[in-house]
Amino acid sequence: MDASTEEFYHILEIAKNFKNRDLNIKLQDKVLGLIFDKSSTRTRVSFQVAMSRLGGTTVDLNPRTSQIGRGEPIRDTARVLSRYCDVLAIRTFKQSDLEEYAKWSSKPVINALTDLEHPCQALADYMTIKEEFNDFKDVVLTFIGDGNNVANSLILCGALLGLEVRIACPKGYEPNDLVINKAYEIYKNKDLLRITSDPYDAVLGANVLYTDVWSSMGEENQKQEKDKFFRGFTIDNDLVSKADKDAIILHCLPAYRSKEITDEVFESKKNRIFDQAENRLHAQQALLSCLLQ
Ligand code: CP
Ligand code: NVA
Repeated sequence: MDASTEEFYHILEIAKNFKNRDLNIKLQDKVLGLIFDKSSTRTRVSFQVAMSRLGGTTVDLNPRTSQIGRGEPIRDTARVLSRYCDVLAIRTFKQSDLEEYAKWSSKPVINALTDLEHPCQALADYMTIKEEFNDFKDVVLTFIGDGNNVANSLILCGALLGLEVRIACPKGYEPNDLVINKAYEIYKNKDLLRITSDPYDAVLGANVLYTDVWSSMGEENQKQEKDKFFRGFTIDNDLVSKADKDAIILHCLPAYRSKEITDEVFESKKNRIFDQAENRLHAQQALLSCLLQ
């Protein structure tokens, strides 16, 4: 939400140019500090490769072997690290902890996923959608599953871009209320955001079908209960057949086949999941170059 619509488009444009190798921006000697309290494959590696392509470097801070894991206050860690690093990317649980880092750091802080949001993922997702459909006009994005961090960021960025977003999730697992209200404030046309508990209704004529795990990191103890509750919210061939005939399938990964998505759909010709994963690299390279130049 710290980005405007114009800035969002600007990052997407730069990301496209990086992907096409039409840009050669160098950020010699710049250092990105990575603080990851949760596991990561894509986000961590794409940030590392992005910095390497820009001519900079990363410091990967393991909370377990730094003083962070021993409880050093965020306000102290943030003030120290921002004297060494030019930018920080943080993956943690509470959004308020991320905001505490941002408050005390004198350098930009990037949200690399919190329980509330996953904005870098949404940048790559909308880049992938733009590659497929050229622009966002008339595109309908349907997210089926848990109203989690990924859904929240798709909603917020969808509002910035003004495209239609439908979320289908079981009752009680809707996206965050503050996020929904914020999105409605941004949307000029309020009909463009719809939250429902009926996946068949949400998917009718949709151009993009998106899903994510039912239990996010930190929710391991809810897994059994959620697996039962989310029956009927699997993206399978039947659900796909109700979408637009040229619809594409997205998933932020990692995926649990036969839970949120069937193997058949995951591996089908409609999937753009690995382009989407690749785009994490280009989108974050663009984000870093905008923040550091
Ligand atoms: N999609 C995503 O953020 O993947 P990682 O958890 O592997 O970083
Ligand atoms: N919603 C998932 C996304 C993982 C990239 C999680 O938070 O675990």
